[in-house]
Amino acid sequence: MLKQRIPPSTRHQARRFQQRHSLAQAAYTSSASPSSSSSSASKPRIILGIESSCDDSCASVVTSDKRILSSIVTRQDHSHTHGIHPLVAALNHHSNIPTTIASALAHANLTHTDIDAVAVTQGPGMNSSLGVGLTAAKTLAALLDKPIIYVHHMQAHALTPLLTEQIPPRFPFLTLLVSGGHTLLVLARGVSEFQILATTTDDSIGDAFDKVARDLAIPWAHAPGAALESFCAQSSDAAQPDALSFPVPQKGKTSFSYSGLKSAVTRHVQHQGGPSAMTDEQRRQVAQAFQAAACAQLEDKLAMALRPTTATTGAASRRVPPRIDMGVDPLSIKSVVCSGGVAANAFLRTRLRTALDGIDRRDVQLSFPPLALCTDNAAMIAFAGHLLWHQRTNDYTRNSRAKWSVEDI
Ligand code: KG4
Ligand code: ZN
Repeated sequence: MLKQRIPPSTRHQARRFQQRHSLAQAAYTSSASPSSSSSSASKPRIILGIESSCDDSCASVVTSDKRILSSIVTRQDHSHTHGIHPLVAALNHHSNIPTTIASALAHANLTHTDIDAVAVTQGPGMNSSLGVGLTAAKTLAALLDKPIIYVHHMQAHALTPLLTEQIPPRFPFLTLLVSGGHTLLVLARGVSEFQILATTTDDSIGDAFDKVARDLAIPWAHAPGAALESFCAQSSDAAQPDALSFPVPQKGKTSFSYSGLKSAVTRHVQHQGGPSAMTDEQRRQVAQAFQAAACAQLEDKLAMALRPTTATTGAASRRVPPRIDMGVDPLSIKSVVCSGGVAANAFLRTRLRTALDGIDRRDVQLSFPPLALCTDNAAMIAFAGHLLWHQRTNDYTRNSRAKWSVEDI
């Protein structure tokens, strides 16, 4: 008998998508349509996706007509070590990957013979974790005599709304990739054509959420960032919104920075005598002030890229707000995708919409994948595999790439 933690929400999500996307296929007209490369119009292609870049062991089956037949995420609990230990994560992947893959096929009501290809995350991520998924994928591909498709993890995050949105974003679109390893503002010109407009000079936003959650001793089981968000949302009568604020670093610059904000929070908490010396309300104030400052950097960069260019005539004496040059007219960008684990944050979702409205860009469609597909999952890997079908190969010499820029795909 299979014993593993398969979140019921994931199963429901998969079923919901199966229903929604089988109806929505006809509306999908992007040039990136995976079904356009399908060998037969009547029989959609089926790809098994495998993802193991960090601590979640993920497997999923997705069809070329955008039905998620299964999406299994087997989580690890690293809360007792206050962070992810790479060796422990890899050992847990070794234990979890076999049953996760078997479970993805079982939930899809398929057997291995139904699979047309295996797509797998090659990087970026932790080498020791990536290697487990890669070996499983290569072995399966060789055994089944099916092609393998190597996928860039951040590319898969960026392309997820092409799978999940009723009206998929059209290229070129802007994407904010916010995860445990990355904070990127990227112009997506095509399925494999990404231009980094801003990146972090130090830590990622996800890392900052995790560190602050630990500083404030907020209990967490899987994602400290999610625990911090829930903690912020627990209001009380004594709540004093905006009583505390942290400076927003890098305002007007074409980069992000989170180490200064992390240190500011640490110093503040130490000054108060540590989390145990603080009331729940004091800790909540710190968490809320941090969350607002962390999200403000993303709002700032979004506005710098998408603010309509103002007329120059007669405006020489007026201060021109700093902007990010994308090489295209900001008004031609009609879609923004925010993806990666931190995109699950509801406060961030609201703030980004407000920021776009604030610069008079109500015409911009802002999409976030559904929560289960914001954080790491293999449905995004399998779907990217469909988009990258032309890159299928029998080459098993490709190994994990811990560091791999989204510009070098
Ligand atoms: O994309 P992801 O699942 O894994 C990486 O590729 O890194 O992102 C994980 C990050 C972690 O830092 C986690 O704490 C954060 O996303 N995260 C959140 C939320 N859910 C996950 N951060 C803020 N609010 C959330 N709701
Ligand atoms: Zn990720």
